[in-house]
Amino acid sequence: MTEPTYVRTTRASYDTVAADYAELLRTELGRRPLDRAMLAAFVELVQATDAGPVADIGCGPGRVTGHLQSLGLTARGIDLSPEMVAVARKTYPDLRFDVGSMNALDLDDGSLGGIVAWYSIIHTPPELLPEVFAEFHRVLAPGGHLLLAFKAGNEIRHLDHAYGHALALDVYWLEPERVAELLSRAGLLVDAKLVREAGWKDAGPQAFLMVRKPAHP
Ligand SMILES: C[S@@+](CC[C@H](N)C(=O)[O-])C[C@H]1O[C@@H](n2cnc3c(N)ncnc32)[C@H](O)[C@@H]1O
Repeated sequence: MTEPTYVRTTRASYDTVAADYAELLRTELGRRPLDRAMLAAFVELVQATDAGPVADIGCGPGRVTGHLQSLGLTARGIDLSPEMVAVARKTYPDLRFDVGSMNALDLDDGSLGGIVAWYSIIHTPPELLPEVFAEFHRVLAPGGHLLLAFKAGNEIRHLDHAYGHALALDVYWLEPERVAELLSRAGLLVDAKLVREAGWKDAGPQAFLMVRKPAHP
């Protein structure tokens, strides 16, 4: 099957910026107490459910994977970009990172207690998000949790330069209500929505959705 253009350009762009992205974002979470609060709540929910391990899907350099592990979860990372995965493996040699795509995860049905997708759905054209959310639903165990972070809005911004490099990336700013509707159509329940106003180096508001696969169909 031929790969969609956006997948190829996303992979190539993140391969190009991987090392600089990792360095520039290394301490970013430390500046964002509300973002960390959502991650901490996710950890607590996953631990209370005890439904299996957690995958950070679109993990990039693994900074969120490492953070989840430091909060007591068993976490692994999956990313489209081999260069990102190489950086993550080097930075967190004790954690597992694999190259893979959220569109077709190499994971068994119901095998995860939790998924974090931290700014990784932002390059998927919105009309293709139902496919991704169906995949998240498939791999989550009943009662498993999903935490999504994305840029809140309703526009496409094209990036031709970022993290010190020329690249070609479309970034989709998404309305939280629209994403919630797509999640619910995929059979997932939205437990909480946080929209945080723009903070340090943000170009606009940021959205965080805490989501759950029902324990009983
Ligand atoms: C903005 S970065 C965020 C990385 C990481 N979550 C973080 O917060 O540092 C987006 C990441 O999502 C990955 N990504 C984008 N589309 C993906 C897909 N379809 N499957 C897996 N990873 C994807 C990219 O390769 C990139 O590493």
